[in-house]
Amino acid sequence: MKDVEIKKYYREKINELKNHNKLYFEKSSPKISDKEYDEIKKEILDLENKFSFLKSSSSPSNSLGFAPSKNFIKSTHRVKMLSLSNAFGIKDLENFEKKIFNYLNKRIDIEYSVEPKIDGISASLTYKNGLLVMGTSRGDGTTGEVITENLKTINDIPHKITNKDFPKDIDIRGEVFIEKDDFKKLKNDFANPRNAASGSLRQKNPLETKKIPLNFIAYTYGYFESNKIKKQSDFLISLKKWGFKINEHNKVLKTIKDLEIFHKQFENDRFNLKYDVDGLVYKINNLDLQNRLGFTANSPRWAIAHKFSADSAYSIIKDINIQVGRTGALTPVARIKPVNIGGVVVSNATLHNEDEIIRKDIRLGDTVKVERAGDVIPHVVLVDLKKRKKESKKFVFPKKCPCGFDTIKEFNKFTKKYDAVRRCPDRGFECEKIAVEKIKHFISKEALNIDGLGKKVVENFWNLKLIRYPQDIFNLDYAKISKFDGWGDLSVSNLKYSIDQSKKVSLDRFIYSIGIRHIGIENAKLLAEYTKSITNFLNLIKNKKFNEFLNIDGIGETQINSLKKFFENKSNYKIIEKLSSMLNISDLKLNKDGKLLNNTFMFTGKLSNMSRAEAKSLIEENSGSVVSSVNKKLKYLIIGEKPTNRKVQKAKELGIKILSQKEWLNLLN
Ligand code: IVH
Repeated sequence: MKDVEIKKYYREKINELKNHNKLYFEKSSPKISDKEYDEIKKEILDLENKFSFLKSSSSPSNSLGFAPSKNFIKSTHRVKMLSLSNAFGIKDLENFEKKIFNYLNKRIDIEYSVEPKIDGISASLTYKNGLLVMGTSRGDGTTGEVITENLKTINDIPHKITNKDFPKDIDIRGEVFIEKDDFKKLKNDFANPRNAASGSLRQKNPLETKKIPLNFIAYTYGYFESNKIKKQSDFLISLKKWGFKINEHNKVLKTIKDLEIFHKQFENDRFNLKYDVDGLVYKINNLDLQNRLGFTANSPRWAIAHKFSADSAYSIIKDINIQVGRTGALTPVARIKPVNIGGVVVSNATLHNEDEIIRKDIRLGDTVKVERAGDVIPHVVLVDLKKRKKESKKFVFPKKCPCGFDTIKEFNKFTKKYDAVRRCPDRGFECEKIAVEKIKHFISKEALNIDGLGKKVVENFWNLKLIRYPQDIFNLDYAKISKFDGWGDLSVSNLKYSIDQSKKVSLDRFIYSIGIRHIGIENAKLLAEYTKSITNFLNLIKNKKFNEFLNIDGIGETQINSLKKFFENKSNYKIIEKLSSMLNISDLKLNKDGKLLNNTFMFTGKLSNMSRAEAKSLIEENSGSVVSSVNKKLKYLIIGEKPTNRKVQKAKELGIKILSQKEWLNLLN
């Protein structure tokens, strides 16, 4: 056959495959068997191997063109799936307990449920009247993907539970993972066991999932109708009775000292386990206490993951590059000779900042110790000075940002010291490096969560000049993109779908997505709760009423200054205005049927048996709000021990009702 004929035949096969992909992934109505489909794939791959001139972006050899469909139906979790904060040593554990004591405003003896932290993928299983009706991935914690059929292929997951005491309506949560030995057999396809579990769970075709030996271990619940169980350890026992697998190493322990001893022992023993474990999870065993403690923005106050210590290795620094972050921080990154650290090949390690390079005297060509723990970015710990070359010179940290602007070190008013971090001053979207990071932040999980548009794609589109500002994402030329290398009709339609989906966003997420320094998720939520709608938010900004935000408990001078600085730049305001006209930004869903609706409160003095934080969440759970200054808008001033006289005086002058802690709690029964 001539080359042209081979090419023609190859193209026909590719088109054939594309059609079957479409029938399968988009229409869910395959016209051929899996075997026939695999044969077409094999023929294409054989042809490519034989004739090096054959290439197509839709080839099965190209993972992008053949990525599993990302268009799973999404579902909002009835109870959020949050992550855990990490502890790396006894200090962190002591801090964890201290925060609990502060929140409760007293010291107590704590009993912990201790559970190995398997490094897999979490999943939530909804059972109604004993039947598994839905299974979802964690997703962004608020919304997950419906992957019921895939989860049903896992042998450890019961489809029907007949025990009399099994709750009528419950979400069972746990970890999907693959054992180390099984992973070895698949090694060519996935980087590590965690990726293997996640990749196979998200196959559009459950038959593909079934091929991978996945396991499920249950450890907690989400929604739980009329829960009568009092302890996490009892819940685990119930899980076992209902037919779930639970971890055989679960334990109940009492003091930090005991936790520490068990951690040490388990850290050594973990290599004998059949699966990867990256730490231990400690949960307060008393479920009533768990409820009282509640959550911060991302994680529960009642649990923590105690990680195992980092793996480390020595390597050589080949180069030092400067990366610019979203807030303009210049981070030096060492490009090192690739080295295997605890099963992962590492070729980059962070050097943190300019001061750290000076302190450790890190130079090009140095032999350095690099550490890596779990999913934390690897970092350089020290230099092996014995191996340093005589001619090596100190590293001079650049004073200019790669964009060309001069950088600065900020002076901290409180510590009276210059910042360790050098920054490119944020001039809106003028610094190209900051701009691209801002767009990456805009699409990230906790912001607009555009999952078809990853960080790599943003960089790619940036280089192709398809995007310069966040709003450009909503005006992409899909026809043009489908012609790019690595893009097929399927991946473009996935992209369009997830971009369209992201247009509906809540106010707090939107404020967070803007990427204003010092406005993280928690603060974005406070601003959203206060302003209630995007119109109000923009009005306050437009009229420069930044000081109004000082009414919000939790927002201080740092945040106000950052907001002012951000919006001093006219182009920033224009971008936000433009985005607000393109997106459907929903008002924050507030709990509107509580007893304290439309009532504002403020505290002065120390409360007994309860911290301010807990008091605030009690008020908010009952639809009230907490403010931080005495003015006409305040309805009740709650007085604890040793109140500030000035505040009480002012409240009296303004005729504001004054309540003792007891009177206030009586309002709530
Ligand atoms: S409890 C809010 N228990 O760790 C409670 N999580 O960083 C969070 N994990 O997404 C879950 N073993 O994937 C819990 N015994 C265990 C766990 C566990 C592993 C994972 C899970 C979760 C992540 C939290």
